[in-house]
Amino acid sequence: MEISAGEQIFKSNCKVCHAQGINGAPIVGNHAMWDERAAQGIDVLVEHAANGYGLMPAKGGNDALSEEELREAITYMLNQL
Ligand code: HEC
Repeated sequence: MEISAGEQIFKSNCKVCHAQGINGAPIVGNHAMWDERAAQGIDVLVEHAANGYGLMPAKGGNDALSEEELREAITYMLNQL
């Protein structure tokens, strides 16, 4: 099965922190860590990921990512819940 663009972006840019919970990053597939954040809605999550949020660096530290790519990666993460 082909992996989605969102999964690819996640693996290259986000997984390093969001797989293990580095610095308190919400772990993929972990409801307790995600439910309250997810409730903000995708638009707020994309905005936070784009601008940085707490210890989350803007765009996960990769300035080349567009908001659309961030949205795809976040959609992938939310789909793992
Ligand atoms: C250097 C580690 C690191 C990388 C890389 C990283 N994140 Fe995060 N992320 C965090 C941390 C830490 C938090 C929790 C921030 C907080 O709540 O203070 C977080 C939180 C988030 C949130 C929740 C924001 C909210 O409103 O609660 C989203 C969405 C997110 N990251 C998306 C991404 C995406 C998409 C990528 C890849 C493009 C990514 N992150 C890469 C560390 C990282």
